[in-house]
Amino acid sequence: MAVLIIFHLLAMFVPALGDAFVGVNIGSAVTNMPSPTEVVALLKTQGIEHVRLYDADRAMLRALANTGIRVIVSVPNDQLLGIGQSNATAANWVKRNVIAHVPATNITAIAVGSEVLTSLPNAAPVLVSALKFLQAALVAANLDQQIKVSTPHSSFIILDSFPPSQAFFNKTWDPVMVPLLNFLQSTGSYLMLNVYPYYDFMQPNAVIPLDYALFRPLPPNKEAIDSNTNLHYTNVFDAVVDAAYFAMSYLNFTKIPIIVTESGWPSKGDSSEPDATTDNANTYNSNLIRHVLNNSGTPKQPGISVSTYIYELYNEDLRTGAVSENNWGLFYANGAPVYTLHLTNAGTVFANDTTNQTFCVAKSNADTKMLQAALDWACGPGKVDCSPLLHGQPCYDPNSVAAHATYAINAYYQQMAKSAGTCDFKGVASVTTTNPSHGSCIFPGSHGKNGSSINGTSLAPSTNSTNSGCLSQYYNGGSLTRSLILTLILSVAVL
Ligand SMILES: *[C@@H]1O[C@H](CO)[C@@H](O)[C@H](O)[C@H]1NC(C)=O
Ligand SMILES: *[C@@H]1O[C@H](CO)[C@@H](O)[C@H](O)[C@H]1NC(C)=O
Ligand SMILES: *[C@@H]1O[C@H](CO)[C@@H](O)[C@H](O)[C@H]1NC(C)=O
Ligand SMILES: *[C@@H]1O[C@H](CO)[C@@H](O)[C@H](O)[C@H]1NC(C)=O
Ligand SMILES: *[C@@H]1O[C@H](CO)[C@@H](O)[C@H](O)[C@H]1NC(C)=O
Ligand SMILES: *[C@@H]1O[C@H](CO)[C@@H](O)[C@H](O)[C@H]1NC(C)=O
Ligand SMILES: *[C@@H]1O[C@H](CO)[C@@H](O)[C@H](O)[C@H]1NC(C)=O
Ligand SMILES: *[C@@H]1O[C@H](CO)[C@@H](O)[C@H](O)[C@H]1NC(C)=O
Ligand SMILES: *[C@@H]1O[C@H](CO)[C@@H](O)[C@H](O)[C@H]1NC(C)=O
Ligand SMILES: *[C@@H]1O[C@H](CO)[C@@H](O)[C@H](O)[C@H]1NC(C)=O
Repeated sequence: MAVLIIFHLLAMFVPALGDAFVGVNIGSAVTNMPSPTEVVALLKTQGIEHVRLYDADRAMLRALANTGIRVIVSVPNDQLLGIGQSNATAANWVKRNVIAHVPATNITAIAVGSEVLTSLPNAAPVLVSALKFLQAALVAANLDQQIKVSTPHSSFIILDSFPPSQAFFNKTWDPVMVPLLNFLQSTGSYLMLNVYPYYDFMQPNAVIPLDYALFRPLPPNKEAIDSNTNLHYTNVFDAVVDAAYFAMSYLNFTKIPIIVTESGWPSKGDSSEPDATTDNANTYNSNLIRHVLNNSGTPKQPGISVSTYIYELYNEDLRTGAVSENNWGLFYANGAPVYTLHLTNAGTVFANDTTNQTFCVAKSNADTKMLQAALDWACGPGKVDCSPLLHGQPCYDPNSVAAHATYAINAYYQQMAKSAGTCDFKGVASVTTTNPSHGSCIFPGSHGKNGSSINGTSLAPSTNSTNSGCLSQYYNGGSLTRSLILTLILSVAVL
């Protein structure tokens, strides 16, 4: 076995697909789905040049015309049987949904169905026919060079995926996978794979550390090593992609590249999904984008790009199931980001989110007395302008010690140019990349759509606060410390 594996390693040559790119999936189970024009406007502001649609919506394809954006269109699962059973139906589908739109809309692939083997197994027998019929229609229109046909798989069709060198496709599906891989290889297409380290991490018996799923650095003794190949794995994503390469080579297919049609992390979940958090989603997607755009490939195929479509552009509030189902998006329907990706030096994609923003916030479990002290200190000796916390001012609500302290300690952190050690406050504070601004309460350090960067350096209290004579309004009814009163008196006197 080992000899065979080494043979495969040496013999393998996967053609490069050029530089890797990051795209997004656009699901539309959204109450107030933005119009196609609005969707395209968001894509443009964010520098997103590759999208996958779950259908071939005419209005959407028209809005994407002449934008330069590359598009994967999809045959929805409910149309698959018809297309797989009739080449005329397939040809008609291509005519209406592809030929009618190219070249103005740059359609680069047809994704046939979605996770068919695992979610619609009764259509599996016609899957390869569907691909072949669609391909024939593209050939007839002389579009087969620029438009590839494939079908996105769940990574759950790969069994024994660690160590990757022992992975193989669930043999139940060999009668489909073998002709499918033949088709992909002979047409120069790629394997489409959905890779969800989140679900691998959530498996009941999983022993995957969160850091390994999130692409966070691991201590060398925690790195996963494939003892057959001696390859080191620093993240789940690479391990799953390599498992797919090995599963293909087990069936003797060694020349088929992979694109990841879906990957992401939910920002919110119910009580059974404690790791669906904004910080984890931000960490996963930010690291994923950097990893893909770095073009480093995987341990098995270094330098072979693995382009990836993030799941997904919008939070889809109409999807049913676990709470996390509604929270995979990078944006809300109104175009506001769910969180601000941290992508310094990651190129131009998501360019307007790459502002290297960090904020200092109160830890969620922090002691209230400690927070009150931090708040008092920041607004006093720390010389932060706390006037936005006054009654009637934008950051008064929510009127809690934690919320007010977060505002004040962040203002201090920004005022100190985010230098090391300025976000600690005896351990009650921590740095986050998620912008805590809400409503009209814009935190210092935000580079919002306004293009404004708010300085937190004002020493002078606003007219209102000086005149009010009721300094305790900053402090949620908490007691003012003597030193604070003194400082304010002094600073007003100096003014
Ligand atoms: C469908 O297949 C038949 C038999 O192979 C062929 O004669 C016919 O031209 C095909 N029709 C289309 C629309 O491709
Ligand atoms: C369409 O996309 C392909 C693949 O990225 C690219 O090579 C081609 O130049 C694009 N065509 C147009 C008209 O932009
Ligand atoms: C392989 O696929 C079959 C058919 O979907 C399924 O019943 C079986 O549980 C799968 N095997 C494993 C180990 O997941
Ligand atoms: C793959 O190729 C090897 C060597 O040619 C052969 O022994 C093996 O049966 C092939 N496996 C499959 C699944 O075709
Ligand atoms: C980027 O790629 C280089 C070489 O290909 C590698 O040494 C480096 O670790 C990669 N960086 C990241 C963040 O993946
Ligand atoms: C960022 O967004 C603004 C509009 O909000 C747009 O004018 C600008 O071109 C965008 N920047 C980049 C680098 O895409
Ligand atoms: C990003 O922020 C960090 C921490 O404030 C800083 O050290 C780094 O220089 C910044 N990078 C850029 C490109 O602005
Ligand atoms: C700009 O910021 C203010 C609050 O400072 C907010 O009320 C306003 O809606 C913002 N404008 C835009 C276009 O985001
Ligand atoms: C923030 O400070 C910079 C320089 O320190 C200044 O140029 C800028 O105008 C200030 N912005 C605001 C909104 O006060
Ligand atoms: C003072 O407070 C009043 C009422 O809250 C507000 O309308 C006014 O704009 C404030 N003035 C300043 C200078 O902040």
